[in-house]
This record gives sequence, structure tokens and C-alpha cells, in this order.
Amino acid sequence: METSEQRVKIAVQKTGRLTEHSQDLLERCGLKLTRSKDRLFCYGENMPVDLLLVRDDDIPGLVSDDVCDLGIVGLNVVEEKRLELQSVGRNAEFRQVFALDFGHCRLSLAAPDSTKYQGIQSLNNSKIATSYVYLLNRFLKSNSIQAETVFFSGAVEIAPKLGKADFICDLVSTGATLEANGMRELDVLLESEAVIIQTRAPLSNAKQALVDRLLQRLDGVLQVRESKYIMLHAPRSALAEIRSLLPGSESPTVIPLEGSTDRVAVHAVCRENVFWETLENLKAAGASSLLVLPVEKMLA
Ligand code: PRP
Ligand code: ZN
Repeated sequence: METSEQRVKIAVQKTGRLTEHSQDLLERCGLKLTRSKDRLFCYGENMPVDLLLVRDDDIPGLVSDDVCDLGIVGLNVVEEKRLELQSVGRNAEFRQVFALDFGHCRLSLAAPDSTKYQGIQSLNNSKIATSYVYLLNRFLKSNSIQAETVFFSGAVEIAPKLGKADFICDLVSTGATLEANGMRELDVLLESEAVIIQTRAPLSNAKQALVDRLLQRLDGVLQVRESKYIMLHAPRSALAEIRSLLPGSESPTVIPLEGSTDRVAVHAVCRENVFWETLENLKAAGASSLLVLPVEKMLA
């Protein structure tokens, strides 16, 4: 039986917009998870991998301090932590492995609909409420704006109503929160999505091998999402045009058709979604018997 040191620990958000997607992604990598009674852990049943369920803001710190080997968290939280550590002369001891293509949002400046705004100069001598003090201050500094930042740990959108700030700097995803509070988005500071980060601390060989395997599977899961397997019949003479119409495909497999000298079967993995228009264009180019299949797993 392995000790807990030998198990890979992944920090994920306990409750929030990334929670479901994070666990779903790991399950697609073949991990079978059971929640602990206290709901603070998920145990991997079939691999020595455990999830720690924590507040998203704590994730970069847990990975940087080597409490967890990996973490899944928004780039906004990662960048804020990086700047916070920098401000006290420390380096972030984690590296971003790759973006996960979910949890898309942006860190934006916003203001009540009635507020006049003529570009970022309008921020001069104002008060701006935010939970992202470091990212906001970097933005203000790089634009030579003099403004006061007011820290709010949550519910930033009520700051103007309370008379605590003129502007806010907060995450916007659908824009529903801003709209519900009579505010509009003014400028984007950072585009964000969920990313996976890894500690810089060296791992044992066995652990590193498992992390590499997980990351490779993760990469496969991400690639498969948009990928389709497409099969069609076509005249040999139309092959060049057909290849040019296949979205994001590498060299397709071309197979002769029994009893036909001219027509061939073409099979290809398309790494982008295949739309009806694409199929209609392929048909117009001479293709027939078109089939589009989902791809379940992929290993590069
Ligand atoms: C963010 C942000 C807003 C809301 C915006 O909070 O603070 O309240 O989401 O989303 P919308 O544009 O879709 O309405 P989040 O739920 O991520 O929580 P947190 O910042 O406290 O972690
Ligand atoms: Zn949070």
C-alpha cells in the first residue's frame, strides 16, 4: 500500500463555477473518485490520486507551497497570487501546464450605467472596489492612473451602491451580475479560463510518471472535445479539393473501394467541429455517403 506522500494531490475548487467541470475532466481521464465523509477530499479508487476540495483563492498557494502537486484554478486567481508573492519578494513556485478551455471569464472594469466614462483617464482620482488588488494596481500603474483601490472580498458589485467606490474591477462571465446591478463593462484587464498548474518542487520518479500520464490523458480529453471522425466516398479526382474542405485534419486515410477504379473512401480526424455547411460543401465537391462520428479517446 502506498503512503499518502506517494499519492498525487490535486487541489480543485470546493464549490463554485469550476467545481463540476474540474471533477468531470479528471473522471474523463479515467479517474474514479469517491468523496470523503467530511467532503474535504475525493479519493481516487483506481489510481493513487486524491483531490483536495478547497477555496479557489487558496489553490495557487497550496501548489506553490508544495502541499498539492497540481491545481485546477482560474488564470485570474493564478495571476493575482503571482503578483501578491512578487510584492513580498517571493517567486510563485508553480508553473502553468496548460489551459483547460472551460471557466472562461474576464477581469473587467465596470461602473453604474449613469457613470460617465471616456476611456481609462476617467479613472483618475476615483475609488475602485475589487478583490483583485494586485492585478488592478498593475493595470493602474502601467496606465499611469492615480486611483484608490478599495478591497472587497466578495459582492464587489454592491460597492458603488454603498457609496464605497465609483468603479469596480471584477470577474464578468455572462454579464448577468453587472446587468442585475445596473452596471456596464468598460475595459478588460485580463481574459481568463481554468488552467492546470504544477508545483516546481521535484517529485519522486513514480509520482512524476503518474503526473505525466495524467497530463497526457488530460491533453487527449481536451483534443477529443472538438474532434470528429469523418468518413466519406469521393472520386479520386476530387481528393485535393476534399482535403482542403476537411476542417483541421491531418493527412486523411484513402482506401480504394471494391469494384470501383475511380471512387475511394476517405477517413479523417477533424480537430474542429464539423458543421452542416462543411458536409454540404463536401457533397458539392463530389463526396457521398458522408458520416461524422464522435471521437471518444485520443492518444498522441
Ligand atoms: C464572479 C463575480 C461576479 C460573477 C459574475 O464571482 O464576482 O459576482 O462571478 O458572473 P456573471 O457575469 O456570469 O454574472 P464568482 O461566482 O466567480 O465567485 P468568486 O469570485 O467569489 O470566486
Ligand atoms: Zn473565489
